[in-house]
Amino acid sequence: MGLWSRPDPPGPKRGAAGNGAVYLGIATLMYAIYMFVGGLDFRSAVEPEFNFVGRNGTRFVLDGKPFFVNGWNSYWLMDQAVEDFSRPRVGAILRAGSELGLTVCRTWAFNDGTERALQVSLGRFDERVFQALDRVVAEARRHRIRLILSLVNNLQEHGGKTQYVKWAWDAGIGLSTSNNSFFFDPSIRSYFKAYVKTILTRKNHLTGVEYRDDPTIFAWELMNEPECMSDPTGDTLQDWMEEMAEYVKSIDKKHLVTVGFEGFMGQQAPRGSWCKPGRLVQNPWIGLHPQQQNLIHRLRFCAYISRSLDGSTPG
Ligand SMILES: *[C@@H]1O[C@H](CO)[C@@H](O)[C@H](O)[C@H]1NC(C)=O
Ligand SMILES: *[C@@H]1O[C@H](CO)[C@@H](O)[C@H](O)[C@H]1NC(C)=O
Repeated sequence: MGLWSRPDPPGPKRGAAGNGAVYLGIATLMYAIYMFVGGLDFRSAVEPEFNFVGRNGTRFVLDGKPFFVNGWNSYWLMDQAVEDFSRPRVGAILRAGSELGLTVCRTWAFNDGTERALQVSLGRFDERVFQALDRVVAEARRHRIRLILSLVNNLQEHGGKTQYVKWAWDAGIGLSTSNNSFFFDPSIRSYFKAYVKTILTRKNHLTGVEYRDDPTIFAWELMNEPECMSDPTGDTLQDWMEEMAEYVKSIDKKHLVTVGFEGFMGQQAPRGSWCKPGRLVQNPWIGLHPQQQNLIHRLRFCAYISRSLDGSTPG
């Protein structure tokens, strides 16, 4: 039995004899609707409030209490939500996560220029895929799972920075064909900002809530696994991150913002470099999870706090 107490099924009570069939029809319909809604476990009307996760120092907080992330990564939710045959997988994984007591799922809010693309070409969106993302957010809410939504890929899967660079180059305004120009080319930066704005201000067609106002979203992740290999000082990436985090915050002050690093700990780190051997980027980040949960409120105020799994503080 759910949270609903079951009312007596509505039925015909009184009325002119000739209306009996109509009453019965309405009663059956209402009962069917009741059963249907009950069967969907549609609890939002009676659920406690679902608020934004915030930050206090290095802790996440929800409703004034510490919030602990038990998370997982299912990058494929939007993609699988597009077609009828695969859509049930989305609800199934979210339900499974919820039943395990998990609280946060990280997934892609991008697909640039590839199969089932959300952004089909620069600034052009496929509404069908956007509705799939809407569905992911609504389903997550239904299962009380919060989402880390990643906004672009460093890698070529699902388009990524390479696709942006190609678009800019094809349009004759790109500075370079190098992948790294994603981070420093002013045109590409503005393309990406336009993308960010479209996502953040998207009004979910199922819930009517704009993404930037939706507490189902735990954090925005600027990029999946960012790297700018042409600048080992990290300055180019740092500059890009600061600009983009600031831009996200200019549209949406309610959500946390994360970079999306995998956990670069630097080559001097005795135990830390195992994460990404040979990688040099050592920008400030807060590492709260061995995977990549470097969540920050504002990059400007971000402290360098990192711990490897054995608790030592690397380089
Ligand atoms: C943040 O945490 C500190 C220490 O735990 C507490 O004293 C303070 O009230 C908290 N601030 C907010 C805004 O919750
Ligand atoms: C762009 O990056 C991908 C990997 O992310 C790599 O395979 C490809 O060769 C790169 N292209 C250029 C032009 O650097």
